[in-house]
This record gives sequence, C-alpha cells and structure tokens, in this order.
Amino acid sequence: MINKVKIDVSKPGGKISKYIYGHFSEHLGRCIYDGLWVGRDSDIPNSNGIRRDIVEALKKIRIPVLRWPGGCFADEYHWKDGIGPGKDRIKRMNTHWGMITESNDFGTHEFFELCELLGCDAYVAGNLGSGTVLEMQDWVDYISCAKGTAMSEERKINGREEPWNLKFFGIGNENWACGGNMRPEYYADLYRRYQTYVKSYPGTSVLKIACGPNEDDYEWTDTVMKLASRHMWGLSLHYYTLLNKNFSEMGDSERFGEEEWYKIIKNTLIMDEYIKNHSKIMDKYDPEKKVALVVDEWGTWYKAVEGTNKRFLHQQNTIRDAVSASLHFNIFHQNCERVRMANLAQTVNVLQAVILTYGKSMIKTPTYHVFDLYKEHQENISIKAEHECSEYKGIPRINATASMDEKSGSIWISACNVDPFEAVDALIEISGIDEVTVTSARMLAAMEITACNTVENPENVKIREFKEFNVKKNSIALRFPPGSVITIGIN
Ligand code: AHR
Repeated sequence: MINKVKIDVSKPGGKISKYIYGHFSEHLGRCIYDGLWVGRDSDIPNSNGIRRDIVEALKKIRIPVLRWPGGCFADEYHWKDGIGPGKDRIKRMNTHWGMITESNDFGTHEFFELCELLGCDAYVAGNLGSGTVLEMQDWVDYISCAKGTAMSEERKINGREEPWNLKFFGIGNENWACGGNMRPEYYADLYRRYQTYVKSYPGTSVLKIACGPNEDDYEWTDTVMKLASRHMWGLSLHYYTLLNKNFSEMGDSERFGEEEWYKIIKNTLIMDEYIKNHSKIMDKYDPEKKVALVVDEWGTWYKAVEGTNKRFLHQQNTIRDAVSASLHFNIFHQNCERVRMANLAQTVNVLQAVILTYGKSMIKTPTYHVFDLYKEHQENISIKAEHECSEYKGIPRINATASMDEKSGSIWISACNVDPFEAVDALIEISGIDEVTVTSARMLAAMEITACNTVENPENVKIREFKEFNVKKNSIALRFPPGSVITIGIN
C-alpha cells in the first residue's frame, strides 16, 4: 500500500489559536524554585532572580501564555503572602506538593515580570477552594486597576506603578478534587458568585475560565455548562497521558520497552475522544461555540526519577514524549474551533517539561523541540489532513496536521511516525496547488526509543534539516524515520 497524507488547501477549517501552545508552571517541586526562579543572588545569570537562559529558550518557541501558580497549589495560595519586601513574606507549607516550606519569594510581581520578559500573556489561577471572594476580587484589583483603590496604591508602594495586563483568570482548579472536592452543582454556584467580583477595570478585559472536567467526567461538563456557561470565556479540561488510567501503573520515564511506548501513544489519542465528547455537550448549551475548551493541563505522567522526591514529579523526557506531544498538537488543531487554549504540564523540571535544569546546566527536552517544530502553526488557518496509511498495532503510522499562514500564503505540514521501529515511505499530496516549493523541512528523530537529552549529552535529540524528500508537482515523497516528527513549509 502507498501511504498517503492528503491535504486539501481548498478546505480551510478554524483558526489555530497561538494559545494552544501555552504553558503551565506551578509551585511544585523544582518548577518555580530552582527552575524558573534562581533568586537575585544566584551566580546563574538572572534578571531580578529569573533565569535568563530559560527565558531565551522559551522566547524561541514563542511561548504565548503562562498559567500560574497552580494546579492544586492555586487553591491554597494566598496572594498577599507573596508581595512586599522579601523578608516580610509569609512562609507557609506547600501541603499538596511535598510538605515543604513555601518561601513566597516568587509572587505576583515576579510572575508578571517573568511574563513581560517572555513577551507572553498571563493566565492567573485564582483560589476558590480555600480563599474568599474578597481575596480574589482584591487580587484582580491589585494586578489590573490603574489607580484610585487601596490595592492599586499598595502595588505602587511595592514598586509597580502601572497595572499589568491580566488576560486570563481561572476561577479555581480541579475543584472536583484538590480544589475542594465539590459536586458540580455546588461548584457552578460558587463559580457564578466568585466570577461576579472578578472585574475588568477601565481599559482591561479579563477572560474568565471555569474549572472544567477531569478526563471523561461528562456530568461535570453538562452541569457546569448548564448552570454557568453564560458567565465564562472558557471551560478547562484536564487529561494526563499515563500508562494506565487511575495511576495504577506509572512506568518509568527513561527505561521502558515497546509495550510502554505503545500504551503512551494509544492513551495520547484518547485526548481526541474526550475533546469531541465534551465539545458535543458544550454544543448543547453553546451552539455558537462562544465558550472555549481550555486544555490547561496535559502531558505524560510517569513515576518520579529514582532518588528524587516523589512529590516533586521530576521525570525524564524522551523521543516517546516528543511523538506524544506531536499527536496532542494534531488533535488540538483538528478541534481548534472549540479548543482555543492548551497548557503543557509543566514548563520546567516537572512532568513533561520542555526544560530540565541541573545547577547551571539547562537542557532542552525532545518535547521542547516539538514546540519549536510546531510554532509555525500559531494563528494559522487549519487545513484538513487525511491519512491512508499502514498501521502500527491498529494505529495509523503517520498522523499529520496542516495549516496556512493567511498573510504569506505559506502552508505548514507537521506529522509524526508513531511506529518506534519501522520507517514509513509516504506521499504527501497537496490539492489546490499546481506546483509545490519546499521552503523548509526540519525533523526530530532518534536512534533509540528511549533517547533523551542529558547534562553529558544535551544535544542527543535535536532538530535536523531534513533532506530526504522528492517533490513532483503537487506531491512530496518522503521517508519518515521510526518515531520521528517532521515539519515542512511550502509555498
Ligand atoms: O500538574 C500536576 C497536578 O496535576 C496539578 O497540580 C493538578 O491540577 C493536577 O492534578
């Protein structure tokens, strides 16, 4: 059989929001402290305590939005602990992630400074689980009100004259579990109440995001949409890719065999089913698709690397994670009319991180490189990509996505080969164009299924120019190496 990817330029779909390439950073393990934040006195080059090499790396992949401070941490975070002179900041226990002392050295000012350095939008997750309505109202006031309130005056005393741009505000996190163990009816009522006091001050417009379902909890979606959809910009969805559901088998992030590769690929694809089913329920209450589905936590989750604190969720990242990330993006693109934001869990040192740090060393993971390959799709119009392809254990080997940059007319095609051992010869046919010129072709591939980057070998898995293709009129013949991800740009 000839493996084919068929792309029809005359069949444009929705816009691929840049926010699909968003990130999530929590006060968890070494994500903030010893990750993004090294402190002002560190000998690691930093801007006011924020690690510069990480900022540069994230800018390169055009990070569009950063969600903070949690996660489960968000519903026990009291923002006033983290403002003012460092010595006065209140110390608390991070009860969810390892019962360690939270210094609150990294707070609202540091977070917004980080967003400004990154040139990205801010997505702040508010505390509905253990915080008051007034506390939430005051936080939004402190951040975004220009003048004339006690909160805005306090911000100025603390060194920031101008308000910050608060683009997205989440009202609670996982309120069905760590965020208060609520029933959906109860959460929907609380959501309606809390969101009333999340104000858009003159010149601002805060987009509110409600806590949505876990995985396949369709009842949660139905109830929250029925009772509260009028009051939200977005509804979140959390789905982590595990070896087995319910954390019953965690697996190792760096030592695994083909069976574990296959399970991760198979379970990644469930994301599509969940998105489609939740979208169908959302359509009932919101047929015009005004409410965005915000996949604000996604990624692979394995047991923590041996010798590290189990509650720090530190894992290695291999070419398997890169293929999983590529599948995620293809799924988000396909469903982009509803999915208008997604946030990888998490940016640095936690779960499917794009960056790992070890002292002064900073490593870009294979997942980082997939963000790099796919950044060309940000804000493009999606184009239908269909496959006719041989299968790997019941899964089509090649999984592709395509988009068009409306301004330049360039078309971008990204695809992965999910088979860890077999190369695949394929033909990409592009209808709607007579003659194709390839302007760029880049690939991520590795010799072993467990290939990863380490301090000793930080460039073991890296993007290379891809040359093994032949263009004939409107089709491109190419060979996908096993377990690879490729992005091709054409005019
Ligand atoms: O990302 C780790 C945790 O996973 C988050 O804190 C929580 O929201 C989810 O359960």
